[in-house]
Amino acid sequence: MSEKAPAMLSLDDVHAIYGKKIRALKGVSLEVRAGEVVALIGNNGAGKTTMMKIIAGLLKPEKGRVTFQGRDLAGLPPHRIMRMGLSLVPEGRRIFPRLSVMENLEMGAFCRSEKDLSREYDHVFHLFPVLGKRRCQLGGTLSGGEQQMLAMGRALMAAPKLLMLDEPSMGLAPVVVDKIFEIIGLINKEGVTVLLVEQNAKRALRAAARAYVLETGMVAVAQDAATLLKDPAVRKAYLGLD
Ligand SMILES: Nc1ncnc2c1ncn2[C@@H]1O[C@H](COP(=O)(O)OP(=O)(O)OP(=O)(O)O)[C@@H](O)[C@H]1O
Ligand SMILES: [Mg+2]
Repeated sequence: MSEKAPAMLSLDDVHAIYGKKIRALKGVSLEVRAGEVVALIGNNGAGKTTMMKIIAGLLKPEKGRVTFQGRDLAGLPPHRIMRMGLSLVPEGRRIFPRLSVMENLEMGAFCRSEKDLSREYDHVFHLFPVLGKRRCQLGGTLSGGEQQMLAMGRALMAAPKLLMLDEPSMGLAPVVVDKIFEIIGLINKEGVTVLLVEQNAKRALRAAARAYVLETGMVAVAQDAATLLKDPAVRKAYLGLD
């Protein structure tokens, strides 16, 4: 990806505050260009989820600007942002446990005007054959890995241009994590831009071309992922390696 490619998503000096005191973001600026996989890493409470929520329109920034494909997202409700092509796979998956796999997927397409969604279902079942096998099963009866796949499938039903994933590997066995990252790579190859939030920094940096390190609400480092993987300070702080 050329350095000169225009930003698909950009955040400019974004601040977020919970209540009157908790400053979760203190002036975050970053860019995601079309076609990229960008990782956002950082410790607990760094502000990663807050940033995702602001981009998705679930939380209003105190200050600053978010633009997607050149359009300012200020004041737009989440469903409008989703319709523009920006989907979030939320932290903790948040699937609907009492709805079937099919119904969960259908919920992901609520913002689509098309009646015929067979292409989207085919696509999701191609990426996640296990969801096809379990299409009538209730979401709550799926394993953790299957629920993560369902959350990703649900987000894909909206045919996003940019997919944001908040901690997709959390709580999953290494072999399932491999699968999830393999699928993230496939989705990206199909042309979907990816913004990936992870505490599993090693995996995220291997999957991404560029990365940002968020520390207590601020971007501490912006760098290409391969360089970050070799950076001694990053290795010590985020990869548990000396
Ligand atoms: N609903 C809320 N009300 C008050 N404070 C909150 C709320 N959500 C998050 N915070 C605070 O905002 C800061 C950033 O939290 P956030 O969830 O964005 O971090 P994170 O990087 O996603 O962390 P984690 O790795 O644990 O998911 C933290 O200090 C957190 O305690
Ligand atoms: Mg979080």
